[in-house]
Amino acid sequence: MSYLPLLPKTHGLLYGGDYNPEQWPKSVWKQDMKLMRAAGVNLVSIGIFSWAKLQPNEKTYTFDWLDEVMDLLAANGIHADLATATASPPAWMSRYPDLGAMDANGVVCTHGSRQHYSPSSPTYRKFAAALVRKLAARYRKHPALAAWHINNEYGCHVAECHSPASTTAFRSWLKTRYGTLDALNDAWGTAFWSQYYHDWNDVLTPRKTATFPNPAQSLDFRRFSSDALLDLCKMERDILRKATPTMPITTNFMGFFKPLDYQAWAKEIDFTCWDSYPDPLETGAGVLYAARGHDLTRSLKPGRPFVLMEQVTSHVNWRQVNGTKPPGLMRLQSLQAVARGSDGVLFFQWRQSVRGAEKFHGAMVQHAPPTQSRVFREVCELGAELKKLAPVTGSLVRSRVAIVIDWAAWWALELPSKPTDLRYEDAIHQFHRYFYKRNLAVDFVAPGADLQAYAVVVAPQLYLLTKEDAKNLDAFVRGGGTLLTNFFSGIVDEKEQIIAGGYPAHLRKTLGLWVEEWFPLAEKETRKVRIGKNKLQGRTWSEVIHPEGAEVLATFGDGPVRDLPAITRHARGKGQALYLATRLDDNDLAEWMDDLLAPFDLRPPLTAPSGVEVAVREKGEERFLFLLNHRDKPAQLNLAEHNGIDLLTGQPVSAKLVLPPLGVAVVALKNQRGV
Ligand code: GAL
Repeated sequence: MSYLPLLPKTHGLLYGGDYNPEQWPKSVWKQDMKLMRAAGVNLVSIGIFSWAKLQPNEKTYTFDWLDEVMDLLAANGIHADLATATASPPAWMSRYPDLGAMDANGVVCTHGSRQHYSPSSPTYRKFAAALVRKLAARYRKHPALAAWHINNEYGCHVAECHSPASTTAFRSWLKTRYGTLDALNDAWGTAFWSQYYHDWNDVLTPRKTATFPNPAQSLDFRRFSSDALLDLCKMERDILRKATPTMPITTNFMGFFKPLDYQAWAKEIDFTCWDSYPDPLETGAGVLYAARGHDLTRSLKPGRPFVLMEQVTSHVNWRQVNGTKPPGLMRLQSLQAVARGSDGVLFFQWRQSVRGAEKFHGAMVQHAPPTQSRVFREVCELGAELKKLAPVTGSLVRSRVAIVIDWAAWWALELPSKPTDLRYEDAIHQFHRYFYKRNLAVDFVAPGADLQAYAVVVAPQLYLLTKEDAKNLDAFVRGGGTLLTNFFSGIVDEKEQIIAGGYPAHLRKTLGLWVEEWFPLAEKETRKVRIGKNKLQGRTWSEVIHPEGAEVLATFGDGPVRDLPAITRHARGKGQALYLATRLDDNDLAEWMDDLLAPFDLRPPLTAPSGVEVAVREKGEERFLFLLNHRDKPAQLNLAEHNGIDLLTGQPVSAKLVLPPLGVAVVALKNQRGV
């Protein structure tokens, strides 16, 4: 079976970084090319922050320097992930009063940093579209062009705007959603606190209010804000698509980034990519952060690899303390991305700046002379290793387990004035941690996604759940799936309105129970949870459950909920639905889930000591086993049943493999079905 690479013009895994030649004299460009070739760079993201250099005023464009750089790249066999340069408007554009984004307190952003534009500014839109048209026309046939990179990290600094232009855009978004003011009043529940609207012109974005803003309004504003930026992305995409119908288009995501509904965004681009910045001073947390970010970015575009678009070689500049990656960690993190489905490893940035706000941010070429730089040496070594991994290109990660993530549920859950303060990511991350630690591949899916490929779906804290999505989860269960959800799920609909008469409304039949009332726990308070002879500990939440067909697997052991159900299972159709009425600590959850999942034969590809990540990518009959030692001591692995060649050494892998600290092996398995 043959697989096209993500970028049809390229071969093998992608390697490179953000290239900002406009920060340097021309003499440096030639040296850059030489060093890029030495490092094995085959792709650079270029022009991301070049708008001011490309357009000195409203009417003039200056592409000559970019022409030269693009030609240099082509002459050196390096491809361009050409940016549309719209991430940071030039200073002259701030003469237009609608350009700057306004915060909830009415303060307007000025130029002098980056990304200060209002997503709904007609001025920004007009000039951005004009620039993209020019770029597309000029470079569409350029031999270096291999992909388009729209904007940069949409929403990173400014994800919401309250300017007059945004207010107008919000109103028209609401008119499209609700049609009439009556429908809006109904959806927002404006009979409450005298919030009723008699005129569209009185409807505002949720600016500074005296106390809790209207939650449905706040939720719609989140939706609108994600859509407003997506609209800009689509505007650019359409221009590019027209000029180059087959050229792949992307924009870089940021993993679990709350403001943007990446499930909606991913549908609009050709491949997903993200920027991963684990903290080197928090190694354990860093490994998990990167793993779940890779898993999310991969899952957003099922059936395709993704790209690690940015990471740093050594250290960033934006933390309180900017720890430096010790030798070997950058390589390990790069190969971790590949293990979890990335077809590329790119960095911010190619050459470390000597001016500007990011001069203390690491790069592929650091301030130290390249010939004497530990970082550049590692960069070159990694480039050479990625070439050896070319066979992996186009292979995929397959998971039988998925975690549901839904941006509307995230936004709604974290609006103020709830029974207790629940963080959506706490729940999502906890379950991801469980699967990660067991080396079980896991996807992230939308609640309305096709779930057929999965044996087990975990849908934690799905506070907002539409009737249709609840039906989808129910169909999954009836069809033989195992669904696990927990407290405070299925509480409100898409209007953030409670479905009264017994929680969790649309999930009642699926779970075979209803919930009468909640007893949230104080921060340090715990509840005993009795499960058979075992005693677990519940935190955060307890509640009064009335089973309606569900079997009680565990009960609370104390407090006002003593002897009431804490964990239930409901056999439904060919499957089952499990429900957790409290939060278990990691160890307790693991113990319980290990038992729960035992019948599913969800085995990791290889049994490995804790701290060793194991992942498999496959393509047709070919399978690649990735072994990554995140520990600071060697790890011994038993590969007796996993014959193959380690692509990094070119040697057959030994039955008793010892991975050094931070060591990696990538085994092309011989017995292809042997895992
Ligand atoms: C990213 C951004 C880059 C650079 C980098 C620094 O968020 O896209 O332009 O600023 O962070 O870590």
